[in-house]
Order: sequence, then structure tokens, then C-alpha cells
Amino acid sequence: MTRRRLVAANWKMNGSLAANAAWVARWRSLALPACEVALCAPFVYLENLGKALEGCGISLGAENVSEYEAGAYTGEVSAAMLSDIGCRWVIVGHSERRILFGETDAVVAAKTRAALAAGLSPIICVGETLEQRESSQTLRVVETQLAAVISVIGAAALARCALAYEPVWAIGTGRSATPEIAQHVHSALREAVARFDPAVARELRILYGGSVKPGNAAALFAQPDIDGGLIGGAALQAEDFHAVCAA
Ligand code: 13P
Repeated sequence: MTRRRLVAANWKMNGSLAANAAWVARWRSLALPACEVALCAPFVYLENLGKALEGCGISLGAENVSEYEAGAYTGEVSAAMLSDIGCRWVIVGHSERRILFGETDAVVAAKTRAALAAGLSPIICVGETLEQRESSQTLRVVETQLAAVISVIGAAALARCALAYEPVWAIGTGRSATPEIAQHVHSALREAVARFDPAVARELRILYGGSVKPGNAAALFAQPDIDGGLIGGAALQAEDFHAVCAA
């Protein structure tokens, strides 16, 4: 098993030219972490960030992508465009997009397929709401979300993806899943992938997201099936994000 740890920042709808430059400057003053690091930022800042981050050991990612290839889709940004400006990663299926922007499992699967077709690596997010957890539907929900993607891209294509378990109740709430709760879901997700393709399941990086901070990252990342994190609030400060990467 050779899963290299991956920690990805998700800045969400935050940042400005000035704030981003300050973040990069602070990051540059810190030692390169041993894990793989990605930074997912709003579309408009990506090209500029790509240049600013040269030599920083960080690969660039988007937070969203169109499911369409090209053409008359006003306001959309294609996977090929993201690849063109140097993106390596793209987040798909984040719960904020599912809940606030009505993205269905089918849309998430189509976006994943579009990303892969353009050579991007999707970070596929799954996660249950508090209501679903409290009614013991967690594994059914996340496995259904995952299966919808696999039905479109095929299990072998997961070798070019990362998976992120992000319980909705833990996002931005300060209430992280415990390491044990997260590990339980991560191992179920890995088993679900293994039913399709055991070799891909062994190599697949499954990230945890939801109120990861410098203080709780090490305990989460010590779990056998947690291969890194997808970091929201704590990624807005370079020092905090760096401390999570160091963990
Ligand atoms: P927080 O780290 O702010 O809880 O956000 C997690 C998240 O949604 C990352 O995609």
C-alpha cells in the first residue's frame, strides 16, 4: 500500500488579489510539507495563483466545473479551460453545490466524467446530512453517491480521482467527526470500491473534510483509511493550513 497523503485546501467563495498574495507569501516562508498539497480556489484567481505558487509544491485545483464540453453554456467553465490554465484538480459534488445549487448525483457524475476527459483529477465529495446520520442512513447515502459516479466513469477511472468524505453536519460547524466515526465511513467506502475493483480501492486516497483544524488533524490522519483532508476554514490562513499539512 503506497497511498501518498494528500491535503487539499478548499477556499470556497473567499479571497481577493491582495489576500491571496499575502497567503502565498506566508506559505513561502514555511517549510515544504511531506504530503502532497493542492489548493482549490475560485475560478477568477486560478491563473494568477498558478503563477504565484510556482515552486511552492502546491498543485492547483478548481472548486467546480461544467459537465458540458464547450459551446453555448453561458457562465460555465469547462474542464478543458481549467486544464489549459494549469489546474490539476477539481472538486466535484461538494455538499454546498448539491444542497445550495441543486446538483444531483447524475450531475456530479457528469462533471466527474468531464473532468477526467480533460485530464483533470476530480476530488469526488460524498457525505450525509445530520438528519440522515440520525436515521442511520449514513452508509447508504454515501455509497449511493459514490455508486452514481462509478456507474458513469467505471471503477477503474477512480484510480485518477480522490474521494472525500465530508459529513454535512461537520462542515463549517466546528464540530468535526471523531476519528472513529470518520474511519468507519472511510473503510466502508473503500470496501464499496473494492467490490468493483480491489486494486483501485487499495490505492484510492480517501480524504476527510469537515472542521479539520491544526488541533484535530493528526488524530484524524492517524486512522488507517484516512489519507488526508479537504480543508475549508482552516485553509484560509497559510499557517493553519500548513499545520494541517504537517500533521
Ligand atoms: P470546513 O473545514 O470549513 O469545515 O469546510 C470543509 C469543507 O467543506 C471542505 O470542502
